[in-house]
Amino acid sequence: MKTQLFNNVADVQADLLVVFVPSEGELPAATAQADEKVNGQIAALREQTVFKGSVAQTLLLPSVVEGQPALLLVGTGKEALSDMNVKKVAAAVGTQIKSLPYANVAVAASGLSVKDRDADNMTTLLAQWLNEAFYEFLGFKQSDAEKVSKVETLQIEGTSEDALKVGVATAAGSAFTRQLGNLPGNVCTPAYLASKAQQLGEDYDIEIELLDETKMDELGMHCLLSVGRGSDQPSYLIVMHYRGGKEDEAPHVLLGKGITFDTGGISLKPGAKMDEMKYDMCGAASVFGTMKAICELKPALNFTAVIAAAENMPSGRATKPGDIVKTMSGKTVEVLNTDAEGRLVLCDALTYIERFKPQSVVDIATLTGACIVALGSVNSGMYANKQDVADALKAASKGAADKLWQMPLDEEYQQQLDSNFADIGNIGGPEAGSVTAACFLSRFTESYPWAHLDIAGTAWAGGASKGASGRPVGLLTQYLLSKAN
Ligand code: BES
Ligand code: MN
Ligand code: ZN
Repeated sequence: MKTQLFNNVADVQADLLVVFVPSEGELPAATAQADEKVNGQIAALREQTVFKGSVAQTLLLPSVVEGQPALLLVGTGKEALSDMNVKKVAAAVGTQIKSLPYANVAVAASGLSVKDRDADNMTTLLAQWLNEAFYEFLGFKQSDAEKVSKVETLQIEGTSEDALKVGVATAAGSAFTRQLGNLPGNVCTPAYLASKAQQLGEDYDIEIELLDETKMDELGMHCLLSVGRGSDQPSYLIVMHYRGGKEDEAPHVLLGKGITFDTGGISLKPGAKMDEMKYDMCGAASVFGTMKAICELKPALNFTAVIAAAENMPSGRATKPGDIVKTMSGKTVEVLNTDAEGRLVLCDALTYIERFKPQSVVDIATLTGACIVALGSVNSGMYANKQDVADALKAASKGAADKLWQMPLDEEYQQQLDSNFADIGNIGGPEAGSVTAACFLSRFTESYPWAHLDIAGTAWAGGASKGASGRPVGLLTQYLLSKAN
């Protein structure tokens, strides 16, 4: 599907025109123009309360006159839309247009009024959300062929090509992230993630480095290696370098937790919903998706992506509670719970990253159930050792409508990680579990500006609509774009 801009509803060519209808007051100009062509039917339908214009309500008016487009009426309620409601509206539009039989769809976006967002920002977000609605998890059901959408061209009313491109690239990145996330653990292994990096290296002009277990052993990454020890799948540290900036300019680094399945290890998880632990590589997946979006947009900056990939399994060789392992930094860790494995793979990756002398490092991880207790699935948890990084992430989060909430890293919490037998324990007890996980990571990030995103609650949805969300690719893409020259 192509996505492009148009600037006037009066002369747009389309089979289906999407127009927005508020529940009261005047019709927006673009909608009023369409209404004239259908002899005031839109206003009449609202008047007769056949179509009330409540938020995300839709009604299709098929074309009865040759050469006139069909109209999809989409309700926007009685006031400027909040982010929550504009997402609902976009999702309703996306769901409708992808299942209708029209090849050329135009969206009269100027009819959308949204709180605290300008037209260019809405161009980006609409392009992103409408494209995202077309994502399907394909490849595993016999009925897949029926899911192919008829839409060939999607036209969005707007003026900024750059804004459109950001939205389209973000959607491509988010689709990649969701696909990797949704893949089952028997397909998406650490080696599979490594192969995806190599494929990105071939598709775009980026350099890939793969560190296998032998190499990591030489480097002293025993903490990372301790997580994959019980698995038959070898662990990898995957590094991708996008170089769009000056040669001597320090990179911004994103690091993703890539546990391709988290059984908990010897500290085995309960069986219920354990399948969802295939999503424990969603941090890694979001870094892959962001890399794809950045490669499409080609901004002027240097960006290094790092993935710590391992499978956490119990076995006769697995790490046991009480085992002490040495990190690449030299600090020793008492592994009190093998289910707190994310921090164990990330800490060695964080030390490895020092060699890039980064301008900033952001790690993204489905790190703790405690973060879901604290923030649910609305906000990702954000921690930072420099307020500058936190503020840049907050601004990106606002721009992308991809929410986060800054959490505390007070030194008082650090004591919860004290161990009688090693430099640090890998768990901090029942209180403030998301905070103590971040505290653990903070012990390995003292040499650079760093932030941590706990996406345990936001990376995927469970239940009937089980599936990866693609978050926080929007936020990360906007963050990196804000760092470009
Ligand atoms: N991957 C999990 C965190 C998680 C759990 C994310 C459920 C999303 C849904 C992580 O590896 C984990 O198991 N964390 C433990 C830490 C605890 C042992 C200190 C947790 O949150 O229970
Ligand atoms: Mn775990
Ligand atoms: Zn995990």
